[in-house]
Amino acid sequence: MPATILVGAQWGDEGKGRVADWLAAGSDVVARFGGGDNAGHTVYVGATLYKLHLVPSGILHQRAVCVLGGGTVINPVNLVREMDDLRALGVEITPERLIISTRAHIISPAHIALDKASEKARGADKIGTTLRGIGPAYMDKTGRSGLRMGQMLDVEAFAEALYAHIETANAALLRDGCETIDPQASAEAYVDAAARLRPYLRDTTRYLNERLHDGARVLCEGAQGTMLDIDHGDYPFVTSSSPTSGGALTGLGFGPLYVDRVVGVTKCFSTRVGSGPLPTELSGALGDRLRGTGAHFWDEFGTTTGRPRRCGWMDTVMLRYAAQVNGFSEIVMTKLDVLSGFDTIQIATAYELDGGVIDYMPMTTAEQNRVKPVYETVAGWREDIGGARQWNDLPAAARVYIDRVAALCATPINTVSVGPERDQLVHRQ
Ligand code: IMP
Repeated sequence: MPATILVGAQWGDEGKGRVADWLAAGSDVVARFGGGDNAGHTVYVGATLYKLHLVPSGILHQRAVCVLGGGTVINPVNLVREMDDLRALGVEITPERLIISTRAHIISPAHIALDKASEKARGADKIGTTLRGIGPAYMDKTGRSGLRMGQMLDVEAFAEALYAHIETANAALLRDGCETIDPQASAEAYVDAAARLRPYLRDTTRYLNERLHDGARVLCEGAQGTMLDIDHGDYPFVTSSSPTSGGALTGLGFGPLYVDRVVGVTKCFSTRVGSGPLPTELSGALGDRLRGTGAHFWDEFGTTTGRPRRCGWMDTVMLRYAAQVNGFSEIVMTKLDVLSGFDTIQIATAYELDGGVIDYMPMTTAEQNRVKPVYETVAGWREDIGGARQWNDLPAAARVYIDRVAALCATPINTVSVGPERDQLVHRQ
């Protein structure tokens, strides 16, 4: 059974890019199943930093064919730019290496304007979106008025449909007192991008099913994270897609019996960018220390937006929930090197809620906003662990920490990362 699903176990930014890069090395196909260029996956290879927003991490491996599935939403102009940027770094991108679903929906300039308008209208209650037009594009999709990538196959009809879509959106923007979009300029830019992308458009559902049937190993590369899931996250502070394992199947169009591995990625602490509950959030010096200064790309500042991320201790109530929602067969823990130097480390094992203690996710976001973490304290370690390559190179206290988190989530953790480089992954023997 040849499919692996890789998903974020927390609020996104867990380090999925580097884990996807590791798993892609053994994959024939790497497929993104949802989200759009709100994602920012960084992969560091030698001296080169690759920033991927839509293109799957498999593109950095010679063998893998990369797929953008029907569940994704694509800004064609940004995708063309990303492909050009990768080519400038020496990455080969051809229609043999990258295929794009005709079923994926298009993000237009009007969606971006509507995203901004909606955030502005929410004021203090804003979601803190990436302003990439993700929500409005998925709203048009579920409202059955969206534009699909397949429409690019007929240039004239596509230009007309885009023009009409922008005029409709302009009426809404005017009503909200926002600046409107020039339909002619948008149509021209999108027709240019369509000409570049047309050779890459295919029926990815058929392609994936044929490859899976023939025994190819497919890696389904998730973006965002479990707590940003439209159904299972802290609604409304979520994205508009299903970044959990179920979303891989609907976003790519094959059945669950092909899946034999579900890998969740968690940082060894918690981060969140944007609004919404983060029960273990730390303010002050401890939070600043986990965040880093921003001097390195791996510090806790958004890859797509540059916003500082909110930081806190590991929350195993949330991680247990993520393990249930996704059915993890294993968890990969990233950024363990960041915890070096703490005398003690806290792990949230339960929540206090309205005078009681619970060890599961509350039913509502309002309750989730009221919980206070119940912590267990474990010993820290002082050693710099960036050079660890064997499990036993890790300090005993670090191994105890990993094993405690794994036990609290009833899910094995056999791989950790100890730095941003490709080879800074340590596997349990
Ligand atoms: P949207 O996906 O741009 O609509 O943003 C909705 C929420 O998801 C906001 O809180 C964003 O900060 C968050 N979000 C979206 N994509 C990512 C990601 O790739 N990493 C982390 N947070 C994300």
